[in-house]
Amino acid sequence: MLKNGPKEMGVAEACEVEEVPGQDYREEILGLKKKMNAVILAHYYQEGEIQDVADIIGDSLELSRRAAETNADVIVFAGVHFMAETAKILNPQKPVLLPDLNAGCSLAEGCPADRFRAFRKEHPDHVSITYINCSAEVKAASDIICTSSNAEKIIRQIPADRPIFFAPDRNLGRYLIRKTGRDMLLWEGSCIVHETFSLRKLVRLQVEYPEAEVIAHPECEEPVLDRAAFIGSTSALLKHVQSSPLRSFIVATESGILHQMEKAAPGKRFIPAPPEANCACNDCPYMKLNTMEKLYRCMKNRTPQIVMDPAVMDKALIPIQRMLSMS
Ligand code: 13P
Ligand code: SF4
Repeated sequence: MLKNGPKEMGVAEACEVEEVPGQDYREEILGLKKKMNAVILAHYYQEGEIQDVADIIGDSLELSRRAAETNADVIVFAGVHFMAETAKILNPQKPVLLPDLNAGCSLAEGCPADRFRAFRKEHPDHVSITYINCSAEVKAASDIICTSSNAEKIIRQIPADRPIFFAPDRNLGRYLIRKTGRDMLLWEGSCIVHETFSLRKLVRLQVEYPEAEVIAHPECEEPVLDRAAFIGSTSALLKHVQSSPLRSFIVATESGILHQMEKAAPGKRFIPAPPEANCACNDCPYMKLNTMEKLYRCMKNRTPQIVMDPAVMDKALIPIQRMLSMS
């Protein structure tokens, strides 16, 4: 499943991880962070203990914004590869460390740059709005980047007479078509985690917990989204459970978000939406490649780092900056 090895991803060599039994990684990481003047950025889908040592925990948009603003000397990215690449593009002079270089993303893998560029050539009139879950090379060939937080706002700013090509997530694309009424050409990509939820089991859960509200990330498939009372990015879902008067929620997104939900809204009940198979498929296998040991080792050894082609970085920066100014 994890196809992109370090070489294919164009990054430095992987960090060697030896387990040190009984080591207090938390204290070591906090000490290294101070010593290195590093900032740890963590996505909500990281393990709870990683989120607990992070300076900033956020969704893809917040993490990009905070990466653009940071004064730290070193950026440590507890997330997946495309997120760390975005941080590097925004901070070309700073080292950006990623605990495991194999932390890819099915959406990024399903949208290779050569096929993306060829598709754009076939549709030269289309403005390409590309979800941030893609490689830097795909970003470099895009007009505007978006995340699940700002996609709707960005689409609404495109003049009505301009056709739009949206890549790579077809579920998010379909959701945005319904939301904005804009017809868009869609790339056929999907997230292996958000496509895993079982409608049959979700309906059964709703019968079991009639008081619970279904909330979902827009990367989920349409039948799951149709059952959701609230749809939003990871940050939007988190804010919603805090402000809602309801006490119980069925959560259709990656399970890592439950850690912050439980912290932000103690006493409320969060029920993970079940996957079709009897598996932990609502855990992102890429996000969960990062561990406390790997985080500690990568900080201690200052490797693995994100290494990128400067020409690709320069090109990819333009649509990222457009996103930041349009959102
Ligand atoms: P957001 O962080 O924008 O909600 O996206 C979720 C996701 O799948 C990240 O990979
Ligand atoms: Fe990619 Fe899905 Fe994992 Fe997010 S949850 S990193 S979209 S595979």
